[in-house]
Amino acid sequence: MNSAINQAVTILRQGGLVALPTETVYGLAADARNAMAVQKVFSAKARPADHPLIVHLATGSAMDDWARDIPTVARDLAHAFWPGPLTLVLRRRPGVLDAVTGGMDTIALRVPDHPLALAVLTEFAGGLAAPSANRYGKVSPTCASHVENELGAVVDFILDGGSCRIGIESTIVDVSDGKPTILRPGFITLDEIEQVTGRVLEDRPPQHVRSPGLKASHYAPRAQVRIVHAEDALGEVLKWHERNVRVGLLASLIPEGCPAEVHWLCIDERLELQAQQLYSHLREADACGLDVLVAVPPAGSGLARAVRDRLYRSAGLGDVLDQTV
Ligand code: TXA
Ligand code: MG
Repeated sequence: MNSAINQAVTILRQGGLVALPTETVYGLAADARNAMAVQKVFSAKARPADHPLIVHLATGSAMDDWARDIPTVARDLAHAFWPGPLTLVLRRRPGVLDAVTGGMDTIALRVPDHPLALAVLTEFAGGLAAPSANRYGKVSPTCASHVENELGAVVDFILDGGSCRIGIESTIVDVSDGKPTILRPGFITLDEIEQVTGRVLEDRPPQHVRSPGLKASHYAPRAQVRIVHAEDALGEVLKWHERNVRVGLLASLIPEGCPAEVHWLCIDERLELQAQQLYSHLREADACGLDVLVAVPPAGSGLARAVRDRLYRSAGLGDVLDQTV
């Protein structure tokens, strides 16, 4: 076995914390059956205790160790998308730690599609509770150096798997009552889920559905993020520039007349690359000391919806569906 995988598994068995690459973002993994290890995750992230964690598994068949009353639709989704960027919320089995589920009667499960994560999970032969490996409310890490810079002092080991292929977190679908509801948009789209389930889904969780952690302000850099339409980008940038504020622009194109001092974070026009690059751009905004980042979100449904969701939350604006821009 690869020695890095060996080391990661040994640390996890001893109740330590390992930063693990997944296809979405890096996770901060701990043994989901070890209360003290799970506690360390909350302390390292400064995460509120009632925010539940996703338990990562090596295979879909391990679902039954953690969840009960699993509806057929959940098995269909698992079959279609695992390993992959989909998290299923199910009714939890007795014996699952309260700390993992935030005291709720449900549990979030996912089989990640990354060779290193799968190698660790297979060798560990158990569930790993792993939130994104960033401090609470901050930007998720998409490469090992992001984790090193933010949590290097508190993680026992960082397994370096290079840059994450997808770059934004998994789509979360609540299937605990048999009726699929999207709690967090992601790389797997509403259309794809509708195709597998054969049902029409709501594009937002109903009011009564509880998912602590899906907060209005999340994925936030230190810089203030201002969301604008492409045609308003120049005006917004100039407004801050004239006030001598260090301003940057996150957009595919730089508007004509944009002052040279404005830091342009060039985001690709292709949606897959926008998702993949988004968080490293938000980190770069902080690294170059920007106070304000003007951002032009992508239009449309599917993955654009997921990228917009992250941008709006990074601006502290909450659900993208509440916004008119
Ligand atoms: O792609 C991902 O999902 C990444 C990688 C590491 O797998 N993980 C991730 O974890 O994004 P985290 O902790 O940053 O986000 C987990 C989200 C939170 O918003 C939490 O509220 C929700 O999952 N969640 C977890 N358990 C839940 C449950 N039982 N019911 C509803 N929402 C739940
Ligand atoms: Mg997170």
